[in-house]
Amino acid sequence: MASLKSANIIIDLAPACARLVAGELVAIPTETVYGLAAAIGSTEGLKKIFALKERPFFDPLIVHVASFKEAAQLVSDWPPLADFLARSFWPGPFTLVLPKAKHVNYLITSGLETVAIRYPAHPIAQELIRLVGQPLAAPSANRFGRTSPTSPKHVQSEFPHSDLLILDGGDCEIGVESTVVSVTTDEVCILRPGQITEERIRLALKKWAKDVRVFSAANLNIDAPEAPGALKHHYMPEIPLVIVPIGEGSELRAETRLKIQNALGVPIQRTVELSLNPDPVLAARELYSEMRRLAETGVDCMFVRSHDNRDGLWSAIWDRLEKAASLVLCPPES
Ligand code: TXA
Ligand code: MG
Repeated sequence: MASLKSANIIIDLAPACARLVAGELVAIPTETVYGLAAAIGSTEGLKKIFALKERPFFDPLIVHVASFKEAAQLVSDWPPLADFLARSFWPGPFTLVLPKAKHVNYLITSGLETVAIRYPAHPIAQELIRLVGQPLAAPSANRFGRTSPTSPKHVQSEFPHSDLLILDGGDCEIGVESTVVSVTTDEVCILRPGQITEERIRLALKKWAKDVRVFSAANLNIDAPEAPGALKHHYMPEIPLVIVPIGEGSELRAETRLKIQNALGVPIQRTVELSLNPDPVLAARELYSEMRRLAETGVDCMFVRSHDNRDGLWSAIWDRLEKAASLVLCPPES
């Protein structure tokens, strides 16, 4: 009888290392979300990331390192400003986009001349990278466009029929993906907001001798070509998520229900509220697991009540919610 494949959750690093060295994939824990990793030296492994995720090749990958030295080897230039930011926020949920070194595979960078690098804080990720002896390219371990996984069980439910090894590092502490910034000699552009907020970057830069312009790609109001992965729809749960005005109660008004029904073209009878913890650290940590839990309750859609606070970590949370939403009934004022 043919045995059915299934993804296995493991705690031992040795088989994970062996698979990566052999050009296979392993799902790895990080402090932000779980990643789907391949060794950067294996073209076959890199191709498998795109195949398993059903990810288009135009969306570049983040390379995970376990030392500053390893990071510097991936770039053709390591500007003092990048070094300063790396020393401020690494290891941690912070990704630097810099000019790539020649040897970095274009499969990782989607043909771009820049590479995204992160030194994760999770001890298991660090230990594994050191064991493998080379950096690991890893996007979030979900099918393309879907909600990122923050536990081994989430990864398993994304790829139930693959023989993927999932290295168990517990639930992710942060819960939303890293902050991605591109850096030149005197500019920092935030391509994706995360736990390292614009405010924290500005604060750190007070110790930097020269003037630096810090800005967010989201405010440029262009289809930022610099952020190829910053697609409009992303992080989507299995049922529609709708952002409704703050004035809605926990039971949606009949009029709102009808609006959603007309816009989505499906009957909306049973709904459930995705309520956000008032503490943004907890709201971020719980966000994706709550989205997954509610998607399994058998309702027609989930909704979240908008609020105006986009300060600090809320900017990352609302960035994810707006991209995950099938419908926004109260677009934020610009
Ligand atoms: O927290 C994280 O960053 C997680 C964990 C696993 O480390 N990884 C993650 O990877 O979120 P992914 O593939 O889901 O998102 C990476 C994003 C891409 O969508 C893209 O926007 C950006 O990083 N990126 C990667 N390389 C880039 C480049 N060369 N230029 C601009 N943006 C880049
Ligand atoms: Mg992702």
